[in-house]
Amino acid sequence: MPVLLGDSQVMSDVRRQVQLAATAGMPVLITGESGTGKNVVAQNLHMLSERRERSFVQVNCPSLPHSLIESELFGYEAGAFTGANHTRNGKVDQAQKGTLFLDEIGDLDASVQAKLLQVLQDFRFSRLGSTEERAVDIWLICATHRNLQADIKAARFRSDLFYRINVVSIELAPLRDHRSDVRMLLAHFLRYYELKFGRTLPPLSGSVMKLLEAYHWPGNVRELENLVKRYVVLGNEQAIVEALNESESASSDSVFIPDGNLPLRIQTQRAVRMMERQIILRALNEHRWNRRKTAQSLDISYRALLYKIKDAGLPRLRQAHSDACSPEEKQR
Ligand SMILES: Nc1ncnc2c1ncn2[C@@H]1O[C@H](COP(=O)(O)OP(=O)(O)OP(=O)(O)O)[C@@H](O)[C@H]1O
Ligand SMILES: [Mg+2]
Repeated sequence: MPVLLGDSQVMSDVRRQVQLAATAGMPVLITGESGTGKNVVAQNLHMLSERRERSFVQVNCPSLPHSLIESELFGYEAGAFTGANHTRNGKVDQAQKGTLFLDEIGDLDASVQAKLLQVLQDFRFSRLGSTEERAVDIWLICATHRNLQADIKAARFRSDLFYRINVVSIELAPLRDHRSDVRMLLAHFLRYYELKFGRTLPPLSGSVMKLLEAYHWPGNVRELENLVKRYVVLGNEQAIVEALNESESASSDSVFIPDGNLPLRIQTQRAVRMMERQIILRALNEHRWNRRKTAQSLDISYRALLYKIKDAGLPRLRQAHSDACSPEEKQR
């Protein structure tokens, strides 16, 4: 079972919720950005539950064509449709007495949502092409990176289904909201990949460590794991610094995409923050990351600039730009 790591209060709370949910056995909805560990949580739930000896069946909803999801989930009888040459068990059947994990449930289309709701209401289902009703004994765990409340408002997701799957909810925070875990996650994945690739690397330098602790981690723990893997495979810190620079320049090019489901005030705040971030990044680049000169050019105090750099999740690229920094800047 993959371990759910993290010493922060946020992660301790998640582990406690996982323990409680695993004993309660009620439907669980796991939410969180990509790479925050939703699959890890689902596997932990199953392994900590009394169903651990039974199967854990995972369905990745977006990877299945809409036309196939229904037969994939509920199975079919021979002759149910063209090409159905023999009877086939669906995922619900395979998960009987065990756990069914529907990953990215927000991607299910309306007809499958309706059928799933029916199953959750009646605890019965039938295979496609069959009238025989079968009892359902599954523990349902769902996950999504989407905001299902917004999808309900936009009539993309059924509210009655939402209440059935969201009896217990576990929300995973983005890594930038529990940066205190970055150090231990780095150490863990470093050990793991050193063992896996049979290599030993020097510990990360203080300056790269600072970069990583200040970074905004758009890809969350998965991104951190990939960075460490890259470090172990390529064998030098420059690999990490380059990856961070690429990510920074990609996000500084990003455009604000309006979201019709959010209030104007929040969207405007986000747009302004994104613009401000780009302005600061451009000024920093123009002044080769000399923060005093950048602050002067933007007509704000040095302290205000440092605060804004941190607030915008920009790394303090001292290591990457050390050649460009003035001696006074390097001493700080
Ligand atoms: N708290 C954690 N402790 C240890 N490893 C973690 C943790 N969170 C995530 N990971 C690791 O990060 C990677 C991504 O995790 P996972 O696949 O569970 O994320 P996810 O939220 O399901 O992402 P996606 O939405 O893209 O499917 C995995 O390799 C997983 O082992
Ligand atoms: Mg996942």
